[in-house]
Amino acid sequence: MNTKLVKIEENPQFFSEAGEILRAGGLVAFPTETVYGLGGNALDSLAAKKIYAAKGRPSDNPLIVHVAEMESLYELASEVPQTALRLARRFWPGPLTMILPKKASVPDGTTGGLKTVAVRMPNHPVALQLIRTSGVYIAAPSANTSGRPSPTCAEHVMEDLNGKIEMILDGGAVEIGIESTIVDLTGEIPVILRPGYITKQMLEEVVGEVAVDPAVLTRHPDPGLRPKAPGMKYKHYAPKAELIILEGEPQAVIQRINQETKKAQEKGKKVGVIATTKTKDSYDADVIRVIGSRDEEETIARGLYGSLREFDKDQVDLIFSESFSDGIWGQAVMNRLLKAAGYQVITVS
Ligand code: TXA
Ligand code: MG
Repeated sequence: MNTKLVKIEENPQFFSEAGEILRAGGLVAFPTETVYGLGGNALDSLAAKKIYAAKGRPSDNPLIVHVAEMESLYELASEVPQTALRLARRFWPGPLTMILPKKASVPDGTTGGLKTVAVRMPNHPVALQLIRTSGVYIAAPSANTSGRPSPTCAEHVMEDLNGKIEMILDGGAVEIGIESTIVDLTGEIPVILRPGYITKQMLEEVVGEVAVDPAVLTRHPDPGLRPKAPGMKYKHYAPKAELIILEGEPQAVIQRINQETKKAQEKGKKVGVIATTKTKDSYDADVIRVIGSRDEEETIARGLYGSLREFDKDQVDLIFSESFSDGIWGQAVMNRLLKAAGYQVITVS
């Protein structure tokens, strides 16, 4: 298959072609404010099959359905509780996905056989226009090969999906850089299944008490603990090299990373370090990548996946990373980093 890559903002005439592809059951990747999505018609189970095939993703891992209007909630969910309405009014369009009981019209192929559906209204003009022009609800996982870091620009999508999908709408680099917050609204109190830019505190300001799925921030994944978002159980976001996180007092972390780097280099390994603006000159590794600045936390979320992908190109054998557990973004960034590291953490005292 020939994948057509178009700079959509300069060539808006391609919206209608992209819409036709979706209506015909084909796949179009597009930007959202979080990461790029791989879109197909959410009500067409064959399109869902194609999405799984293109990503190489297990088909028990359900897809998020993207909408452009609030009313669409009633087309997809069999019940829309007050909490869902309040959250949608406050955070949509935006990086919040809500899990609700599904209507029969949403195929099992889209929800991985679950009786619930994940719905989100993305805050990106290209995504919204694509949904409106196509006239379909768009099922879209992140547009990466399963297991790889999510794409934050169209080049990342090309790396993974060139030749496997009909079209990629290039809308430049995304703003947020990590996936939406997922909140399950099917129980008594809302439960966060995946942390993101919209934090527990932000949700609680709107709907009162909110819980967090214990699988979200675990440091020692217990094989008996099944995350409620099926996708969160897979190895994820991972660079090809082994990744180890070091946490503790900042100066001690730098020292220890340099010691570990030296040891690994003596064994002939090429070593990478994930650093921040202020620490970058403190390391002796072969490749040092600045993922962002701790003073502007949002830059760290935005830089995370791109940095992990870059390390693949550098062909390092081992990567050491500083840890990021503070602030608004901390939980979401750390959740992704821990998965990418397969939960390997060294605590430096
Ligand atoms: O920001 C985002 O959410 C991006 C953009 C493209 O919108 N999408 C995204 O999709 O991250 P994906 O497929 O990579 O992650 C979807 C997550 C998976 O962990 C999946 O298991 C969970 O959502 N999920 C989807 N439907 C669910 C459901 N009915 N119940 C529980 N978890 C669900
Ligand atoms: Mg994903």
